[in-house]
Amino acid sequence: MAMGVLLLMLMLMHLQVGLGLGNGGLWQEFLRLPTENGGTKWALLIAGSKGYENYRHQADVCHAYQIMKKGGLKDQNIVVMMYDDIAYNPENPHKGDYNGNDVNKNNFLAVLLGKKSALTGAGSGKVISSGPNDHIFVYYSDHGSPGYVCMPSGGNLHANDLSQALKNKNAAGAYKNLVVYVEACESGSMFEGQLLPSNIGVYAMTASNATENSWATYCDTPEYNTCLGDLFSVAWMEDADARRPGDPETLGQLYDIVAKRTNLSHVSRYGDLSLSSQPVSLYYLPPGPGTSTASAVIDDEGRVGGVNQRDAGLVYLWRKYYEEKSVEAWERLLREMERRSRVDSSVDLIGDILLGDSSKKKLLHIRRPAGQPLVDDWDCLKSMVRTFEAHCGPLGQYGMKHTRAFANMCNAALDHNHMAKAASKACMHPPVITY
Ligand SMILES: *[C@@H]1O[C@H](CO)[C@@H](O)[C@H](O)[C@H]1NC(C)=O
Ligand SMILES: *[C@@H]1O[C@H](CO)[C@@H](O)[C@H](O)[C@H]1NC(C)=O
Repeated sequence: MAMGVLLLMLMLMHLQVGLGLGNGGLWQEFLRLPTENGGTKWALLIAGSKGYENYRHQADVCHAYQIMKKGGLKDQNIVVMMYDDIAYNPENPHKGDYNGNDVNKNNFLAVLLGKKSALTGAGSGKVISSGPNDHIFVYYSDHGSPGYVCMPSGGNLHANDLSQALKNKNAAGAYKNLVVYVEACESGSMFEGQLLPSNIGVYAMTASNATENSWATYCDTPEYNTCLGDLFSVAWMEDADARRPGDPETLGQLYDIVAKRTNLSHVSRYGDLSLSSQPVSLYYLPPGPGTSTASAVIDDEGRVGGVNQRDAGLVYLWRKYYEEKSVEAWERLLREMERRSRVDSSVDLIGDILLGDSSKKKLLHIRRPAGQPLVDDWDCLKSMVRTFEAHCGPLGQYGMKHTRAFANMCNAALDHNHMAKAASKACMHPPVITY
């Protein structure tokens, strides 16, 4: 009898651990379904924005999810993080594993590192609990700026923190190779300057280099007032849509196609470029014996030019006004334009106060040559931005283009206290931000 109870308890404990009810990691093993390569394919897809004017980032992620499914990835191995505030999104059958304010930097890094214990909030608890033979694909779509990308909640993801996370994941032996695509302004700055070493098996492709915008597209679809896609993202995803199972396309061939089609920015690559010869099917294209479908013509007719990512929000407000002709819509547009010029002029004024004559002020606009990171001291950059925001209000999606100015202040070793004083002078009357 006692023996029977003991046995039952043991079985229950085993089951608990097996289902992830206990704190053991066994259930994660259970979810790692083998593939034909002896490793598992994982995907982490994240939209960093919210709001209808940013519709396209969540649409990008929903589209990417469809591609992962078509590529044969199991739901257990796809983690989707999106704010999910776009009602009736027709492409959105998947609610996302992490929604609302749970889409933040902390959870993103916890998911990437497979650290269940570090998660906060009410997400699905799914993490990338990958092993040494696995291939991981990470896709991020949103706004960026020199040195960081946005999150809908809880602060931005800085380049040095992403870099450290990837090194840690490598040190933990938690992947064979990892491929990451980033759609954001200045997305190259997330990796530029050896932030992504070439010896950790990670290959990155970004929508733009470290010093330029990325571009929104499909902005002229009559029934929507907002841009529906991003140029770089649409390029890699429509390529994937056009491929049949077993297509041997390599990452390098894909880069050539995407770089050609993304003709308003320089699509860039970082990290272990020897991965260029790997087939995309190691990550997300459907595998199998097959022939090239590279001749699949991508039809660019009807793609109406690009809109700079930073201006896509203005396009939305303008369309809204054009359609409604209401005083409210006009005022919203004016407020946004006023907010933008206020951020520009406060940064400019701080430059005047700190550096005086215009020849020295050029320092704020220096672009370091390719091969150097945006800033040497990332903590300095973070604290400069915090100080600016404390005095002048949030930089916001538009104002974050000025991060380079703050990075340059750090690189020139300008005194932090002087900057704080200049910011307090420049923004004597902190703006009341009304969104
Ligand atoms: C990055 O983009 C800028 C602006 O388009 C361009 O002037 C510069 O040459 C590019 N640099 C690299 C390394 O691609
Ligand atoms: C980029 O490509 C689009 C579509 O093919 C074309 O309409 C546009 O003129 C091109 N823009 C530039 C700057 O080359």
